[in-house]
Amino acid sequence: MDLDILRSIPLFSELSDEDLIEISKQTVRQIYKKDNMVLIEEEVGSTMFVILDGRVKISRISDEGREVILSILCDGDFFGEMSILDGQTRSANAVTLEDTEMLIFRRENFLQMLYEYPQVAINLLKELAHRLRRSDSQIKSLSLQNALGRVASTILRIADDSGTIKHGKVEIASLPPQQDLANMAGTSRETISRVIKSLSQLGYVQKQGSKLIIVEYDRFKQDFS
Ligand code: CMP
Repeated sequence: MDLDILRSIPLFSELSDEDLIEISKQTVRQIYKKDNMVLIEEEVGSTMFVILDGRVKISRISDEGREVILSILCDGDFFGEMSILDGQTRSANAVTLEDTEMLIFRRENFLQMLYEYPQVAINLLKELAHRLRRSDSQIKSLSLQNALGRVASTILRIADDSGTIKHGKVEIASLPPQQDLANMAGTSRETISRVIKSLSQLGYVQKQGSKLIIVEYDRFKQDFS
């Protein structure tokens, strides 16, 4: 496998070429078609995935049958590590949003890698700390904020995950569809379009097709995080 691909994955950053070659021997590269259910909540799991190219939605289904989107992962992100680490069933569903190329690690190889390369374990912990912070702000926004605040903090999470910053503005190249945004913010599709309209009228954002620009990122963060 091309080492540049492995080197570009945050989990494997700072490893030597020899280490990357060893790691590449312990993994399988595979393409999953769009809308493929890669992991199913509550199933027993023995594999861990790293996304090379594509997007994967992580979600759970509420008791009333509503989808709650926990995260949308993209190039360089990983998933499926929780069941491997704690031996419990899958904590969520994972579905590809487009054709997605992934590396797949088997449980024993992944655990062995953590013993052999402490840097990988530290990178994994850093990402888990980031996900916990993200979940904490999601809990805060769901429990404390009104619809405007919940939608705005969902936009902020997407901006922090995948936006590009330039001169104080953050551009989200492609905002998820409105139903997905609703499932991320714990609200309805109608509320999403109403709130995005209000946020534009208040001068917080500009929407151009599926592109969204946060006009002044610092002010937005101060008001909605
Ligand atoms: P696992 O429980 O094995 O299978 C489902 C995967 O979804 C889980 O591992 C994590 O990799 C991923 N996952 C669960 N919750 C979140 C979250 N809040 N943010 C990002 N990824 C998550």
